[in-house]
Amino acid sequence: MSTIDKSADNKFVKRRVAIMISGRGSNMQALINAASDENFPAQIVGVIASSPDAKGLEFARQNHIPTAINVLKDFQNKSLADQAVSKILQEWQTEIICLAGFMRILGSKFTRQWHKKTINIHPSLLPKYKGLNTHRRAIEAGDKIHGCTVHFVIDELDAGAIIEQIEVPVLPDDSEESLTERVLNQEHILYPRALEKVALKKIAGTKADIN
Ligand code: GRF
Repeated sequence: MSTIDKSADNKFVKRRVAIMISGRGSNMQALINAASDENFPAQIVGVIASSPDAKGLEFARQNHIPTAINVLKDFQNKSLADQAVSKILQEWQTEIICLAGFMRILGSKFTRQWHKKTINIHPSLLPKYKGLNTHRRAIEAGDKIHGCTVHFVIDELDAGAIIEQIEVPVLPDDSEESLTERVLNQEHILYPRALEKVALKKIAGTKADIN
């Protein structure tokens, strides 16, 4: 993690980050843990879940992080659900959104509104294996190297500019489960590192888009 000079004209302002989840939230946990370090350049201001049953909510609450639930079926359509998410994010004065296993595809109005402010973690070496079942597809293809990616979110699924990747070897006796677990361990290292990079770009006053 980079060391930040907090004395310089009070320039150290932690970026306000919201995390969006649908389930377990292990990447969310990694981000919350990283942000608990006083030198990390971002603070987690809230967690939005697409279901009240998302397991990750418990960890967020234990850490006294505000939470909100946004269930698609509570709205007339997806666009209205997205709008409600945006409203919460604005109330939290969110500067960066981290999608962490958020299983609903956000509409183009949302992705445009939060362009260059929304990042996502994906369990493959993008542009390979966009979408689901990435580990199974890597094994079936006989890949020797697999991995994970953090990228900016744009309207097209899993297609935004890549921020950081970690490669993970596929071992000869790997099952989908064993590969999933090894990649997930690396995701927990990758996501805080990528968020730090995005947050620091902003602090330095340079453009948020890395590429
Ligand atoms: C992770 O594999 C992530 O890459 C993908 O969804 C999974 C979420 O896992 N987008 P968790 O909820 O963070 O544990």
